[in-house]
Amino acid sequence: MRVLVTAGPTREFIDPVRFLSNPSTGRMGFAIARAARAAGHDVTLVAGPVALRTPNGVRRIDVISARDMLAAVERERFDCFIATAAVADWRPARMSGRKLKKREMSGVLKLTRNPDILKAVSSRLRKRTGEVSPVLVGFAAETGDPTAEAVRKCREKKLDFVVANDVTAADSGFGTLTNRVSFVWPDGIVERLPSMSKAAVARRIVRAIGALRRGFPPAIGPSPRANKHGSDPATKGKTK
Ligand code: CTP
Repeated sequence: MRVLVTAGPTREFIDPVRFLSNPSTGRMGFAIARAARAAGHDVTLVAGPVALRTPNGVRRIDVISARDMLAAVERERFDCFIATAAVADWRPARMSGRKLKKREMSGVLKLTRNPDILKAVSSRLRKRTGEVSPVLVGFAAETGDPTAEAVRKCREKKLDFVVANDVTAADSGFGTLTNRVSFVWPDGIVERLPSMSKAAVARRIVRAIGALRRGFPPAIGPSPRANKHGSDPATKGKTK
């Protein structure tokens, strides 16, 4: 499979020395890229500003802002898109080309919405008929139980599944080495996984995608069901 992963934060500059961003380190996305490569896939990683080494054999495209990230994603062809990036939803309505002096700043910053990259990809691809649709996987980072929101995001963005986590939990979220996630499926089924390394979560995600793509019911997730990627009657009903 050609696997495309977005990772890390985006930066939205106010002026050349100030920006809006978030604490994402990119670790989860990089772990997924590494796991997908280890599983033999052809992997491209679109990374916001992070301090991580590129996994061996992975093609990396560095970007800064949400709009850069969208443009990079739109140039790629893929069989599977995994959106782990913590994309800034808003950017300053205007970026100053020179450093603003504090006396020039009123304390109120006018913002404008950034594109939703995953939604844009999904709206473009889900319209097509007569061909195998790429697998689309989202993340849902929430404060508190993320599962209800994850179901909503899964349906709204027409995703195959969403990986949900509570970013305020000590063993989960931004900057941690471990993650405690739930896999959330469009039919509302939630599988809560125990706390494990981001590398282990990444392998579970890659395995679930491989199973979906082959038309098997996913190894993790809902009970057997018709699979829009083309189910195989001989294997229908079996889980790995
Ligand atoms: N995402 C994206 N582009 C954005 C915002 C989000 O591609 N501008 C992707 C993220 O990479 C993630 C998923 O959409 O896979 C959900 O992101 P999240 O920030 O949890 O949710 P939002 O869709 O932004 O919704 P809300 O702000 O209401 O939580």
